[in-house]
Amino acid sequence: MVGFGVGIQASKGLAMKAMMLDGYGHAATFRMADVPRPRVGVGQVLLRVVATSVNPVDVKIRTLGLPFAPELPAILHGDVAGIVEEVGPGVEGFKLGDEVFGCVGGVKGSGGALAEFLLADARLLAHRPASLPLADCAALPLVTLTAWEGIMDRADVRAGDPVLVHAGTGGVGHVALQLAKLRGAVVSTTVSTPEKVQIALELGADHAIDYRATPVPDQILATPGGRGFALVFDTVGAGTLDASFQAVRVGGTVITCVARSTHDLSPLHAKGVSLHVVFMLLPLLTGQGRAHHGEILRRVAALIDAGRLKPLIHPRRFALSEAQQAHTLLAEGKAIGKVLIQI
Ligand SMILES: NC(=O)c1ccc[n+]([C@@H]2O[C@H](COP(=O)([O-])OP(=O)(O)OC[C@H]3O[C@@H](n4cnc5c(N)ncnc54)[C@H](OP(=O)(O)O)[C@@H]3O)[C@@H](O)[C@H]2O)c1
Repeated sequence: MVGFGVGIQASKGLAMKAMMLDGYGHAATFRMADVPRPRVGVGQVLLRVVATSVNPVDVKIRTLGLPFAPELPAILHGDVAGIVEEVGPGVEGFKLGDEVFGCVGGVKGSGGALAEFLLADARLLAHRPASLPLADCAALPLVTLTAWEGIMDRADVRAGDPVLVHAGTGGVGHVALQLAKLRGAVVSTTVSTPEKVQIALELGADHAIDYRATPVPDQILATPGGRGFALVFDTVGAGTLDASFQAVRVGGTVITCVARSTHDLSPLHAKGVSLHVVFMLLPLLTGQGRAHHGEILRRVAALIDAGRLKPLIHPRRFALSEAQQAHTLLAEGKAIGKVLIQI
């Protein structure tokens, strides 16, 4: 028995390769190791991992050792696309060989996807969209669940509403802007380069704002009637939340997925604005709401197959042994869209 992740036990003597962390901190680096393959329990499936994607939370866990970081030695990464290798007791809807995707681990109490095999609570999974290669499905879960919880679950978006999504070519932002379009909104998004303007427009944004060149008052003036945005989805946080509070209109809504900073809420008071915070890891950390994540991903798969949603994937793909380089690319802000690691 080793100490990385609930349910990870020596299983029939089978081993797997994994990228392990022995400690957290800015100098923390992965090392390839042979570790016991996990064994399925009730309600779980064992996945043969085909791909994972890097999320900022994975980088933050590695470098900061957040309170919900997995026990050391640790295997990181929640996003997975894989093939069902074993089915545990009580699992319905999945069978050997099924191709699935989900955000299932990489936090305290679970294994991670930087490995050849990974245990998953079956409730967190969905079958992959038929029209997207299996590996590419690893780009979807964490960011799509976050954007969905904001735009579909929390926001009351009406057709024609002006919506601002920050970071239209970022992981969460590129999905949020597409979901807001699906709800009939007129979508503006912030980006930093002409190349990203083009990508955001291709993803369906109505307006792509170069946030370095366009101050918030000008962004507001550009909304219908010049009254500001009905909804601002803020995926940046500390650097943009005050501007989001400025850009939202009277009676509007601000949703953010980055709220670990200090701000003056009086602009929200003055305009009667609702503020929502999404934290999509809660079902993984608390065990509650897991079936909803599976349900969201089933709906996401249907939207992808209908050609109404697509992931933005960074052109360079990494191998398991290159996990460190993949983290560095994302951490340095050089990725456009999702960074994939194929196992
Ligand atoms: N609470 C949750 O459940 C949850 C879930 C997912 C993610 N998050 C958090 O949300 C954040 C974004 O995640 P992600 O996956 O989208 O990250 P990402 O893929 O790295 O994207 C970040 C984006 O932010 C853009 N950006 C940086 N500064 C900006 C600014 N001032 N204005 C507008 N855009 C700016 C970057 O592009 P440019 O530099 O070119 O502008 C980049 O496109 C991270 O902090 C992550 O930890 C939280």
